[in-house]
Amino acid sequence: MLEISGLRKVFPNGVVALDGVDLSVPAGEIVGVIGRSGTGKSTLIRCVNRLEEPTAGTITLDGADITRMGGAELRATRRRIGMIFQQFNLLTSRTAAENVALPLEIAGVGRAERGRRAHELLELVGLGDRGGSYPSQLSGGQKQRVGIARALASEPSLLLSDEATSALDAETTTSVLDLLRRINAELGLTVLLITHEMDVVRAACDRVALLDAGRVVEEGPLGEVVARPGSRLASGLLPSLGRVEVGGHEHAEEVVLFEDAEERLAAAIADGARIEARSTERIGERRVTRALVVTPKEVAV
Ligand SMILES: Nc1ncnc2c1ncn2[C@@H]1O[C@H](COP(=O)(O)OP(=O)(O)OP(=O)(O)O)[C@@H](O)[C@H]1O
Ligand SMILES: [Mg+2]
Repeated sequence: MLEISGLRKVFPNGVVALDGVDLSVPAGEIVGVIGRSGTGKSTLIRCVNRLEEPTAGTITLDGADITRMGGAELRATRRRIGMIFQQFNLLTSRTAAENVALPLEIAGVGRAERGRRAHELLELVGLGDRGGSYPSQLSGGQKQRVGIARALASEPSLLLSDEATSALDAETTTSVLDLLRRINAELGLTVLLITHEMDVVRAACDRVALLDAGRVVEEGPLGEVVARPGSRLASGLLPSLGRVEVGGHEHAEEVVLFEDAEERLAAAIADGARIEARSTERIGERRVTRALVVTPKEVAV
């Protein structure tokens, strides 16, 4: 479990990138942090592995405060934290297998064992037959799979992902997010995932937090957030179905319904309403139905 509390980061030039961030990442869950450009997302993730020194606040991983660690303790903790990047950050002069083996090499693991582990990890990410390929011979999606395999090499308990799918097309994004979900389930890995795309949150996350000007302004499990009236996260997760022209005696409204959607819509139709558009999808643990309902003025859904 990762617990971030009162985290501040003020850069030497005076920019306040993080202004008191509080965020919990429960063990085994995938938590998405979403926010506009420049709002502090990368700074937040870089503070977690201490690539950036926090100005104030605490970051505890399984009870130990990362912000107070130094030397050997910090190095050991960093090995338990994997990281994947938007631009993959692979070494071009090394094969896929050699890239995956790099963290093991640094940790002093012998050559034969490194090779065996690298092959196993490449199998796990669906690239068992591409270990001898160089990054230039791989597609973007394949490169990110190598990046994921490398991040898993030191058997981390926490994986940090900073816009890991932003350089990929929609289909490849889906397959990489599916892979992250599978790894999360199979290895029990906790994931903190930074993105500026709500589609990524919808596809991959258990919980979501909205970062705005260096603060978490809203957060919660996806299924809970979508049911929150007036929520910015909900309106991002549930884009509008569109508009419909109605007569003067009619009223058009977009409604969001949950497990009882069928009964409520059937009752509205029986009362004289018509459904102009609808869609049902699974968001978090909930089934969410959106419907564009046109009612005679006296009927309410
Ligand atoms: N090393 C630095 N020195 C000074 N200011 C910085 C530094 N790094 C980032 N910043 C500033 O801190 C703020 C947050 O930057 P950050 O990179 O965390 O944003 P972000 O949410 O990741 O944005 P994006 O979505 O564009 O990646 C920005 O105003 C940025 O200009
Ligand atoms: Mg960033």
